[in-house]
Formats: sequence, structure tokens, C-alpha cells
Amino acid sequence: FTQYPENTIIQRPIVSAHRGVPSLAPENTMVGYQMAFDLGADQIETDVQRTKDGQLVIMHDNTVDRTTNGTGAVDQLTLAEIRELDAGIKYDPKYAGEKVPTFKEFLQAFKGKDIVLLVELKDHDIEQQVIDEISAEGMMDQVVMQSFYLDSMQVMNEIAPQLPIGYLFSAAVPSSYEAKVKNAKKMVDYGTLNDVTLNASYGTVYEEFITYMRQRGVMSMHWTFRSEEPFVDKLKQGLIGPITDYSQWLSESPVYL
Ligand code: G3P
Ligand code: CA
Repeated sequence: FTQYPENTIIQRPIVSAHRGVPSLAPENTMVGYQMAFDLGADQIETDVQRTKDGQLVIMHDNTVDRTTNGTGAVDQLTLAEIRELDAGIKYDPKYAGEKVPTFKEFLQAFKGKDIVLLVELKDHDIEQQVIDEISAEGMMDQVVMQSFYLDSMQVMNEIAPQLPIGYLFSAAVPSSYEAKVKNAKKMVDYGTLNDVTLNASYGTVYEEFITYMRQRGVMSMHWTFRSEEPFVDKLKQGLIGPITDYSQWLSESPVYL
């Protein structure tokens, strides 16, 4: 890492708006994504799952319980049932009426706009369907993929070699970290046509891994920044790809203004 003196102007990071801007608007909703875009985020991060009747929707949790006024597992509800739910009211009544977005709706809203969509697969076996929907919109050059499932990203590598893929991992203890890093390195050394990013939780990035990535010119994104101190600290250390709930920091933080 390059250490910067206090008050040094730092290169503006590539900011991913995590589930939109959940510090200001309900997560994974169209209103939140639009806010991220308006705040100047570089990427919008989102989570894709499949409904009981095989449709792609956007939801982080396995169930709709936390973020909507309904209950039940996403894969046990039909698209029609999920679209009946309110995805804004629990967050703040002023957002009442927000729907759980379909993946298609999300794509179409940002098609051709100056923003990258960082799409996380929360389900196995949806890779082809996800690619089909992105292709149908002609958006293969506007999407970056990521998953905690290494096998899922390997499938992506087979069916969409032109699409950047990211392996997500976190490791709170060094012993678990070793295994995750082994996987991550496998991705880098996979001999893929894809650009690979290694996306670790920011608290679990160790120097050896940073060095490995830097030597190979591998991009890395880190999640999920929810307080300003570590965000600023990591930027000062040279981190370029923060994933955050606070895209408004792009205009508020003094560090790179
Ligand atoms: O983008 C990284 C981050 O979203 C991974 O964790 O649980 O928020 O999907 P999670
Ligand atoms: Ca995610």
C-alpha cells in the first residue's frame, strides 16, 4: 500500500451502490437504484434470485419477510405473488408502493445509461437465464457479474466468456481465509477470457493477497462500507473499488474533492 499524508487528494474510487442506496431509500428497489444513479455511482450492485415459477427477481434475502410486507421464501412464491408485495413501506411509509423489481425491469431502466450493473447471483443454476435476459437487452457490455459460488462463476466463464466475473468471499479468521484465497487464486489463474475481480469483505483483506492481485493486475472490489472511517482509511491505502450503502459519500467526503 501507498500511504498518503493527511489531506492528500486521492483518486476518486469506483463506487458500487450496494443494493441501491439503503441508507436513504429501501434496498433493491427502483427508487433506490435511481438515487444511486443520480448520486453519480459508477456501478449499481444488486442480487438476483428465481421465483417459484422461474422468473428472475431482485431480492437479497431468501425470504421476502425483512424487506416487504409479506412472508415466505422467494422460491416458494410466484412472480405475481411477489409483485403484490410492498417493498418500500417497511423502510418508510413515504416509499409505500415500491415493488420488488424484476431483473428485466432493472436492466431496462439503465440500458444505455452511463452506469455499470454489478449483478450478484444468489441462486445456483440461473446463470444461463441471467445471460439470456442481459443478451436480450443488448447489455452484455454494461454488466459485471459476481457470486459467492465459485462454481457459478466458472459456469459463467463457460457460457459468457466476454463478461467480467467476480468471486465474492469473506474470511474472518486466517484459517478460513487461506481456503478462500486458494479459490480466489484459482479464479485468477483459470486461464479465462473474462476479466476477473476478487471481491472480499474489506475487513478480511490481508497483505499477501493484495500483493498477489497487484502483481497480476487484478481488480478488486470490497464490501460493504457503512461507516466513513474505514472507507476513508481504505481509500488512503489505495483501495479503488468500494461497495457501499452510502453513495452520497461521493459528494460529501472531503477526501477526493
Ligand atoms: O457486493 C458484495 C455484497 O453484496 C455481498 O454481500 O450479503 O450484501 O450480498 P451481500
Ligand atoms: Ca449482494
